[in-house]
Amino acid sequence: MRSFLFLTASTREPGHVGNTETLARAAAEALPADTPQQWIALAQCQLPAFVDLRHTAGSYPPPEGDAATLLDATLAATDIVFVSPVYWFSVPSPLKAYLDQWSAWMRVPGVDFKTHMGKKRLWVIATSGDRAKAQPMFDSYKLCADFLGMQWMGALWGKGGAPNAVLADTAALAVAHTFLTAPV
Ligand SMILES: Cc1cc2nc3c(=O)[nH]c(=O)nc-3n(C[C@H](O)[C@H](O)[C@H](O)COP(=O)(O)O)c2cc1C
Repeated sequence: MRSFLFLTASTREPGHVGNTETLARAAAEALPADTPQQWIALAQCQLPAFVDLRHTAGSYPPPEGDAATLLDATLAATDIVFVSPVYWFSVPSPLKAYLDQWSAWMRVPGVDFKTHMGKKRLWVIATSGDRAKAQPMFDSYKLCADFLGMQWMGALWGKGGAPNAVLADTAALAVAHTFLTAPV
């Protein structure tokens, strides 16, 4: 049984749906009705500042609060979808903060994070002004997937801008309708 975790990374104010989520919602509509979907807005999560304990304590205590919620949601999903606008040709800070937590979760005794992640798929849905200049961000995400042995499922890109601008990108919307239902 597959289950999808959508991690949205736009920093628009609560209640203002961005282009990336609009594109992702269009993609998610194609999933079978009985496929569980969980959506988490990373910018609304309170994550602790990441501290690199790799070469001192060497391990981390179990996360608490929103970090624990995110770890549980991450472990529960078979498919993780980064719903990621491009910020400064790179990964937006809410998603970067979440990714840094992976380094901690890999070192929480008893979690075996890397083994679990190696059985999951990673998808990316993105918007920005220019597809070619989104490539470094896509490359970063693929390298993250590779590092944990996740199956890289590729990126869906649409042209963003002001909210709903992506609705004019009919090519992206057409691809969205089959993106997440690709054979795995
Ligand atoms: C802080 C910030 C940095 C951005 N940097 C880029 C960029 O490097 N390249 C680009 O094409 N668009 C950039 N944009 C534009 C966004 O990628 C674009 O508007 C996107 O559709 C926003 O996603 P959203 O509507 O889901 O919030 C940036 C926007 C913000 C707020």
